[in-house]
Amino acid sequence: MPTLRILTYPDPFLKKEAGPIETVDEQIVTLANDMLETMYNAPGVGLAAPQVGEDKRLVVIDVNQKEGEQDPLVLINPEVVDSDGEVVYEEGCLSVPDCLADIKRAERVRVRGLDLEGNPVDIEADDLLAIALQHEIDHLNGVLIIDRISPLKRELYRRKVRKALKEKQANA
Ligand code: NI
Repeated sequence: MPTLRILTYPDPFLKKEAGPIETVDEQIVTLANDMLETMYNAPGVGLAAPQVGEDKRLVVIDVNQKEGEQDPLVLINPEVVDSDGEVVYEEGCLSVPDCLADIKRAERVRVRGLDLEGNPVDIEADDLLAIALQHEIDHLNGVLIIDRISPLKRELYRRKVRKALKEKQANA
C-alpha cells in the first residue's frame, strides 16, 4: 500500500467542501487503506480524504493506536447528527504543521455514516474520539484548525508559514 502525499496549508484544496461518495466500490476501499497507511506512518490519529487531494467525504481515525494495537475506524459521508457539552482540547493537524491550538468543540457527538461495506454506522462518541470525529468532518467542509482560532493567532501562523516558504524559495 502506498503512502499518500499530505497537502498542507495554504494549499487551496484544503478549503474546498468535499463531495459525497455515491458508491462504496473497490476504489474507495483502496483509498481508505492507503489513507490508513499514510495516517499510521505520519503518525496521526486521523486523516480526511481532502488532505490527500481527494474530493471525497471519507475519513479514517484511530485514537487507540498508542495502546500498541491498531483499531481503525473508516467512515464514509460522516455527519454529526447530535452533540452536547463543550470541551477545549489542544489539537494539531498533519495539514497544519507546527501548529498546536486549543480548540473548543462539543464534548459528545453522535455521528452517522457508512462503513467500507456500505452499511450504515451510528456512533456515539466522547473523549478523544468525539474530538477526532469533529476535526476530520471539519476537513470535509474545508475547515482547518486555524479557522477555529483567534484572528490574531491565525495571522501569526500565516506569517510564520509565509516566512518559511520564502526561506525555502531563497534556499532553492
Ligand atoms: Ni487535520
